[in-house]
Amino acid sequence: MKKIFSALSMANEQIIELETQLLKRKLRITESPCDIEALVDQRQLHTFCSNDYLGLANHPELIEALAEGARRYGVGSGSSHLISGHNIAHDLLEKKLATFQSEHIPQARALFFSTGYLANLAAITGLIKLAKPGEASIYSAKLNHASIIDGVRLASAQSKASVNLFDHQQLDTLIEALKKDTKPLKLIVIDGVFSMDGDIAPIKALVQIAEEYDALLLVDDAHGFGVLGEQGHGILEQFNIASERIIYVGTLGKAAGVSGAFICAQAPFIEWLIQKGRPYIYSTATPPAIAHALLKSLAIIESDEGKSRRHQLNQLITHWQNAMQFSAWEKVISCTPIQPVILGSNANALAVAKLLDEMGYWIPAIRPPTVPIGSARLRITFSANHSIEDLQALMSALQKIERQVQMESGS
Ligand SMILES: Cc1ncc(COP(=O)(O)O)c(C=O)c1O
Repeated sequence: MKKIFSALSMANEQIIELETQLLKRKLRITESPCDIEALVDQRQLHTFCSNDYLGLANHPELIEALAEGARRYGVGSGSSHLISGHNIAHDLLEKKLATFQSEHIPQARALFFSTGYLANLAAITGLIKLAKPGEASIYSAKLNHASIIDGVRLASAQSKASVNLFDHQQLDTLIEALKKDTKPLKLIVIDGVFSMDGDIAPIKALVQIAEEYDALLLVDDAHGFGVLGEQGHGILEQFNIASERIIYVGTLGKAAGVSGAFICAQAPFIEWLIQKGRPYIYSTATPPAIAHALLKSLAIIESDEGKSRRHQLNQLITHWQNAMQFSAWEKVISCTPIQPVILGSNANALAVAKLLDEMGYWIPAIRPPTVPIGSARLRITFSANHSIEDLQALMSALQKIERQVQMESGS
């Protein structure tokens, strides 16, 4: 019999281990556009799990803009931005993105990336290189997104930056640590909207802290861009914040409905990242057709249509908040389209997600390491394409499932 080489047997054993701990994840295949209904593994399901908050991912004008972009610029960029991949569509997009933050960041300039993951890696590792090795500190919120965690780890390994984790609802420890910090460069990093809980960071207090202790403040507004603020410009607009210390990261594959991300900051920081941000320098530029489609998306976000989509989203959020007692399951107080229902164990979360699936709903169980151990959950998300009736129907389904689970467990 042929002997299995050791790496392969390790892979097999580790996968079995994940299965045993109910932590194995499964890919599901959709055959339809991202919208509130999806054809998943050949079944039609109601979806409450995407980040397409404004319902733009399947918008006819965006589809047309992408097709027009492909006709104008082809389908590939051919190389990284600094070689030959930087197209007029990228440039126009960056200029427009900068105008979204220009009232909040002086001399705002934006830099486009193919994903938010890369934007966070580039921003954190790149900015830390402004200081000599060992002369920077990073302060990162414990519940920040994985891309921030990885950016912080990489910056710490590459530049010997010291790393401090803080609780974003308890800023005293952050302040105490900053008081003692004598390093020339300090970077505070925070999710604007926490991706798994939906709560919003105490951004005003953090800006004050950054000012007082001479730190930069990186805000990852992946889930706020397009959603927060009267014009959809994001968290800085919503809370009327202006500071030269802010490094703003926004993503474009969520509310903007397409793909990509950007960093917006004072022009010298962006120039530095073009020179030193390795994930920017050593990666092929996003196809310009995507940037062209994104220009259309930004126009919709700022338009009356964008406003009415945000209005609809806020109606859904208010409806959910007012009816939250519909079930006894633990919820997180959130005023964003991310509304988690905490189920605790992996087994509970998987069982409820399965029952939902049987009732025609697609809301996967979110388990560690995406969320802390013991807080497995349903991460319910709303889209402006949902109606109040859709929400009511989901609540009834959840009520039925809760009763069924209680009966089965005898409680
Ligand atoms: C808070 C946060 N930051 C960054 C990202 C990464 O963005 P992208 O999906 O564009 O890589 C995500 C998304 O998944 C996120 O939730």
